[in-house]
Amino acid sequence: FMNQLFIQQAESLIDPSLPKISNLSNLLALAFYEYPDINWIGFYYCDNAKKECTLGPFQGKVACTRIPFHKGVVGNAAVQQKALTVNDVHCFPGHIACDSQTNAELVFPLIKEKETYAILDIDSLVLNYFDEDKVETFQAYTRLIQSILFNDKL
Ligand code: SME
Repeated sequence: FMNQLFIQQAESLIDPSLPKISNLSNLLALAFYEYPDINWIGFYYCDNAKKECTLGPFQGKVACTRIPFHKGVVGNAAVQQKALTVNDVHCFPGHIACDSQTNAELVFPLIKEKETYAILDIDSLVLNYFDEDKVETFQAYTRLIQSILFNDKL
């Protein structure tokens, strides 16, 4: 089952009168502290002309600042435009280790007008952390993120 309470908390946190960055930052903080086994959560913004992703707002340790398309989990999701669940990052060819403590990773591409606008990257200390329920939960969370990010009125 997906974590309905977490999604409700996330929904109630959103204040449409605030700038995007305020809501996005608070949503990241909520996830980071609700899930103690998540050691990093944040955004990489994609530059489709330069074919690279650069670090956006996040919670966690200092991270890699540039990720070329095709490189690592983030760079692969940027090109494939699909969510990727990596149960063991040490088995993912070309994985970029920003933090050696990370063992599992879940990424969602945020797509605007057919182009990858950004990647939501979620890292865990625990192998096989992202089971079906968590993937479903973070899918719903990603939809909330997108409702802020892609709202032209905000
Ligand atoms: N591990 C990622 C890089 C980003 S950090 O984990 C924050 C990757 O392979 O794309």
